Amino acid sequence: MPRLLIVYHSSTGGTRQMAEAAAEGARAEDGTETSLKTAAEAGPDDLLNADGYIFAAPENLAAIAGVMKDFFDRSYYPVLGKIEGRPYAQMVCAGSDGENAVKQTARIATGWRLKMVQAPFIICTHAQTTEQILADKTIPDTDLSTCRDLGSAMAAGLDMGVF
Ligand SMILES: Cc1cc2nc3c(=O)[nH]c(=O)nc-3n(C[C@H](O)[C@H](O)[C@H](O)COP(=O)(O)O)c2cc1C
Repeated sequence: MPRLLIVYHSSTGGTRQMAEAAAEGARAEDGTETSLKTAAEAGPDDLLNADGYIFAAPENLAAIAGVMKDFFDRSYYPVLGKIEGRPYAQMVCAGSDGENAVKQTARIATGWRLKMVQAPFIICTHAQTTEQILADKTIPDTDLSTCRDLGSAMAAGLDMGVF
């Protein structure tokens, strides 16, 4: 059975809800096994053992959050040349922008020669003040349904072998 790996980091809950929604959508597809891991617990073996990926990161200081970057840093060379051509998608949770985080993940994925199979998307929490940035986030269900759809499309695509 093909395996989908979803890796995420979240400090205030937004990206976690997005990743959990993607996992929920993916798990509704019986033909693919889905693994949801935090960036802190995931590593090269998880990447090697999966057939496709969803990366979900917050944008912090115009870059992917440090813990997510650390996952990529720890994993980049151990899997380089071993996961080429595998499909991936990404989601970003941002307070106002998110574009740099998208670009950064896309560059890493290009380095790995992964195949982007869904357009990246950014979910904006509109957190601007210190208080809003540090507060726990609640992602609206309309946005979570986009994440569910992504998970389901990735899992179904892996199951059907269309990537
Ligand atoms: C230190 C820090 C830096 C941030 N920098 C950015 C930024 O550069 N661009 C942006 O759009 N949002 C920025 N944000 C807002 C977060 O992306 C936003 O709060 C998001 O919901 C965080 O995801 P999480 O809830 O999964 O932790 C920043 C937040 C923190 C804590």
